[in-house]
Amino acid sequence: MPICQLHGAAVTTVEGIGNTKTRLHPVQERIAKAHGSQCGFCTPGMVMSMYTLLRNKPKPSMEDITEALGGNMLTHTHSVIHTCKTHTIYIYVCVCGKVELFRKEDLLPLDPTQDLIFPPELIRMAESPEQTTQKFHGERMTWISPITLDELVQLKTQYPQAPVVMGNTNVGLDIKFKGVLHPIIISPTRVRELFGVEQRPEGVCIGAGCSLSTVQSVLERCVCSLPAEHTQTYAALLGQLRHVGGQQIRNVATLGGNVASAYPNSDLNPILAAGRCSLLLQTKEGKRRVPLDKDFFVGFRKTTLRPDELVLSVFIPISRKGEVVRAFRHAPRKTNALPTVTTGMRVWFHDGSDVVREMSVYYGGVGACTFCAERTSQQVTGRPWNEATLNEAYRVLVDEVTLGVSAPGGQVVFRRSLTLSLFFRFYLHVLQYLKDMDAVEVRSAQDPVGQPVPHSSALTHATGEAVYCDDIPHMNREVFLSLVTSTKAHAKIIHIDVSRALDMPGVVDVITAKDIPGQKFQSFTGINEEVLVEEEVTCVGQIICAVVADTKQHGKLAAAALKVTYEDLPDRIFTTEEAVEQCSFYAPQRTLQRGDIHMAFQEAEHIYEGEIRVGGQEHFYMETQSMLVIPAREQKEVKVYLSTQHPTCAQMSVAETLGIPANRVSCHVKRVGGAFGGKITKASILACITAVAAWKTERPVRCVLERGEDMLITGGRHPVLGKYKVGFMNDGKIIAADVHYFVNAGNTPDESVLVVEKMLVQLDNAYNIPNLRGQSVACKTNLPSSTAFRGFGVPQSMVVIENMIHDVAMTLGRPAEEVRDRMNLYKGLSRTHYKMEFDPENLHCCWVECKKRSELGRRRPAVAEFNRRNRWKKRGIAMVPIKYGVGFGHSFLQQAAALVHIYKDGSVLVSHGGIEMGQGLHTKVQQVVSRELNIPLSLIHISETCTSAVPNTNPTAASFGTDANGMAVWDACQTLYKRLEPVRKKDPSGTWKSWIATAFQERISLSATGFYRGHELSMDWQKQEGRPYTYFTYAVCCSEVELDCLTGEYRTVRADIVVDIGKSINPAIDIGQIKGAFMQGLGLYTMEELKFSPSGSLHTRGPGQYKIPAVCDVPLQFNVYLLPGSQNPFAIYSSKGIGEPIVFLGSSVFFAMKEAITAARTDVGLSGPFPLRTPATPEHACLACNTHFNQMVRHKFVLLYQDVKCVLVKD
Ligand SMILES: Cc1cc2nc3c(=O)[nH]c(=O)nc-3n(C[C@H](O)[C@H](O)[C@H](O)COP(=O)(O)OP(=O)(O)OC[C@H]3O[C@@H](n4cnc5c(N)ncnc54)[C@H](O)[C@@H]3O)c2cc1C
Ligand code: FES
Repeated sequence: MPICQLHGAAVTTVEGIGNTKTRLHPVQERIAKAHGSQCGFCTPGMVMSMYTLLRNKPKPSMEDITEALGGNMLTHTHSVIHTCKTHTIYIYVCVCGKVELFRKEDLLPLDPTQDLIFPPELIRMAESPEQTTQKFHGERMTWISPITLDELVQLKTQYPQAPVVMGNTNVGLDIKFKGVLHPIIISPTRVRELFGVEQRPEGVCIGAGCSLSTVQSVLERCVCSLPAEHTQTYAALLGQLRHVGGQQIRNVATLGGNVASAYPNSDLNPILAAGRCSLLLQTKEGKRRVPLDKDFFVGFRKTTLRPDELVLSVFIPISRKGEVVRAFRHAPRKTNALPTVTTGMRVWFHDGSDVVREMSVYYGGVGACTFCAERTSQQVTGRPWNEATLNEAYRVLVDEVTLGVSAPGGQVVFRRSLTLSLFFRFYLHVLQYLKDMDAVEVRSAQDPVGQPVPHSSALTHATGEAVYCDDIPHMNREVFLSLVTSTKAHAKIIHIDVSRALDMPGVVDVITAKDIPGQKFQSFTGINEEVLVEEEVTCVGQIICAVVADTKQHGKLAAAALKVTYEDLPDRIFTTEEAVEQCSFYAPQRTLQRGDIHMAFQEAEHIYEGEIRVGGQEHFYMETQSMLVIPAREQKEVKVYLSTQHPTCAQMSVAETLGIPANRVSCHVKRVGGAFGGKITKASILACITAVAAWKTERPVRCVLERGEDMLITGGRHPVLGKYKVGFMNDGKIIAADVHYFVNAGNTPDESVLVVEKMLVQLDNAYNIPNLRGQSVACKTNLPSSTAFRGFGVPQSMVVIENMIHDVAMTLGRPAEEVRDRMNLYKGLSRTHYKMEFDPENLHCCWVECKKRSELGRRRPAVAEFNRRNRWKKRGIAMVPIKYGVGFGHSFLQQAAALVHIYKDGSVLVSHGGIEMGQGLHTKVQQVVSRELNIPLSLIHISETCTSAVPNTNPTAASFGTDANGMAVWDACQTLYKRLEPVRKKDPSGTWKSWIATAFQERISLSATGFYRGHELSMDWQKQEGRPYTYFTYAVCCSEVELDCLTGEYRTVRADIVVDIGKSINPAIDIGQIKGAFMQGLGLYTMEELKFSPSGSLHTRGPGQYKIPAVCDVPLQFNVYLLPGSQNPFAIYSSKGIGEPIVFLGSSVFFAMKEAITAARTDVGLSGPFPLRTPATPEHACLACNTHFNQMVRHKFVLLYQDVKCVLVKD
């Protein structure tokens, strides 16, 4: 929202509705106490969405809530929707039906009379608006806000090229992301004529300036007040409007703006055009009315609007008797995602007959502009509405929609297929109308340990008081760092010309590798990686140098002006296949084997060979990489405030880069707004560059990446190509498997070799395969370096194995869970393929419990029956187990330390080496301290993680944070408790405060360190044996999906997860982790698709192109059960690590989709295993169904496409 546009508006921020010091707003309180917040970075947004809804509608329905939150993405806060439900219905989330996670009696009631009022002075201002034009002058722009239509017309005549900024959702993006500069901006938000609404007998006239939310309300009123036969277009428009952006976008984006922007995939233009709408336009010459039809849209974001012309209003006529209007869209996600293909369709029948009198079909997303399928419409006109006409329409349509091979946006076959299937949907709808049938759419204590204690920062998250790295106030002389990255995937740097950048306003300096005073490289796993590249770039996005400037804006402009000259180098490698061909690997390659696979293959009754591609994944932490480095040259000291999971790594790297000892560098982390593995090595490299800038300029330097930069530079989860050969018997018993993993590690080694090792160690998942061989290799390619990501290779490794099992089941024609359970699951005292002994009893219990809780036995036949009854919708159900080794696999990484101070007033300050990044680590640690010192939680505080307080920390990762740090803190508390014992004995009736006062008088130290050594672990790759973990976390998930075979869209109908996490320290936090991880896994396997250009440049650089799950993707029924009675002697209070394991269970949705696709394929006569990559996006799912729409397009075009690679999907 441009600041000038806020003139006269009252802005309410999350800080304004309540805070922890005075009074919390009930929304803030509920989100906090009902466990709706994890790292808290998105929480203020969630709070304000809910607050806005309640201000407008104090008693919202569930639908209203889902719609209001629909635009909010979920990184790990699934619980928020449950929290918000408490505003309508009070719910209790139960763990095994026993523990209440929160109590409604503890929550403040909502009292609208206590809400802020709109400032009276602004009301007065609005009632007597200033009669003058407002002008705001910036460095490069002038903002003009006229008051009358005449003035507006004059301005548009004077500055025809100036944009008319209304909601700014289009213009703003161009300015921000494409660097478009508009010297003049006209903002007519005060011109009344643009906001009028007039309902006439022949239709409704809506001012072009009305927001899409206003349009929604107007149309809803029309639908309620008019007979149904007149509201066909209104209802269709409403259907589309519900999915345009999120509520926040719809509140500002305008109808006129959408029409004038002429997006090729606008949701509104096709239906407005099909619905016979027209526009009233105005110039200085006067007004004219034009139909909004095929002639209006003339090219990519071009219409017949003249530059000096304004859209005054849009007229939407009522529908006539015998007219049916519908709109459909398909998008990668239901809300807040631009559509892949969208349509508006209208048919008008002759009175009392099924003969078409007039037809109009428009599509979006199939070309440079809104497209009219005119020939198809003509073909249908005059014909009866039946299958013969439908086939005739297909015949024409398939030729008429001509998406070129290299059409922008790719997905050519899929989009063409969608044009047919959406037409078919319209056909069915109209048929039902004609038959006068109802449309039946089946969419459809004390001791806090073990208690659901809310996240310790929940309230400050909810009120916006929580401080993240970039919230640290700006310092005197502070400057900003902007990075310059490679635009080439593989090239020699010939010259870096910094002169133009240095001359730009506000620029202080440019930092190159030559400025590094110490080591120019970092080595995370024994292989050097350059901090700033000097000679040869090896991927697009590699950091070459950085501009230091007084503001972010100046830094960005100068970074764009800096010129790097390259000489292209040959042999660019992007895929694992290319890497294998050129033997481009990082050493060592690993093999893990047990038994004799060759012999076993000879004995097997069946042998099957298959493969699966597992796509990469972007971390999409809400807080992007952020740091502030403050130098103090006198003592050669630097303070680094940053968002990292591994402060010691950053500390050592900065010290080495600056050439100073580590004792001069202190790293401070208050909290991290999500990390998921992406803030270990990558954060350290960025800290090094920022530190060099601070060192050279002797000024505090801040570096905060923008989303697009972050996605481009920092890499993500390793994409994997998994190939397998499996030998099995008629009963489903697998006796041999030979698995190869080709891992795309990218341009630097990072932690890839460790990932490769973990993939092999976890290869068996929950299955006892007597003859098993795994081979894994990290491929060196010219893509941005892959790095650690929640699960550290396990989600990729295991999905390959599960796919293999699924193929076995399909080959034998048996339900997959039967092959998993009866024939192959570990049972009784067992040994892994690296000879580690373990007891899988709890794995078995989870399996049995999940089967029971999910009612799999009843639902599998119900799914089959559903599939028999439905041709275009199919359901699938799948149950998947996991056995996950918790910890790092190396003894030295298991250690942790802590420091606990008791102050004279009895309050306790705890420091430990773990990072709070939303997973509730600090809360659990406080619960440990509370139990051990026997004091209330309110006395215990954790301020930050700092390398000066606790040195030599290990990364907070591997689901091991509480195991390690909890034990270190426990140790320190034990020491303190023992020291206080004599005081307590002397005064048994004393209080904690009195004992502390006495202890101080008696000179007893009230400060103690704690240490946890961890268990001995080993893995001998030579001997092929070891014990890399002390224990496993087990879980099983059963998911059911419903797939729309026409579009590939799916919905998770239900998910039931049973987890063995020992004795949970905090069930509310653990359930939050479980649900969040499941959603992240669902994203990995079914939604999040990274796309690269053929020259290796990441295309998906923001939420617009890269879809992570949102509120609308949460399973309709989502149950989590914690296995009762489980014990774990290897971790604190018998708990188990839970951060990572459940990500893999998102694959149950993928396998349920495979089952649904199998049902669709059966209908077209296909059987047996079939390939499906992850993520199984609607595009891949739809094409895998192989409906006759896919076949029609394929037959016609596949020959043309097969040799052309338009978009290279990262492995
Ligand atoms: C996150 C996000 C998600 C979105 N999702 C969708 C979606 O799912 N489906 C969809 O269809 N759209 C979507 N959009 C696009 C959005 O609907 C349009 O950007 C919006 O309607 C444009 O209106 P605006 O008022 O913000 O336009 P502005 O950005 O203010 O202006 C856009 C253009 O229109 C011109 N203009 C505006 N008003 C007039 C007028 N009265 N006369 C002449 N010219 C005028 C301006 O000169 C400018 O060139 C999305 C946008 C965002 C940012
Ligand atoms: S709590 Fe929402 S991003 Fe972490």
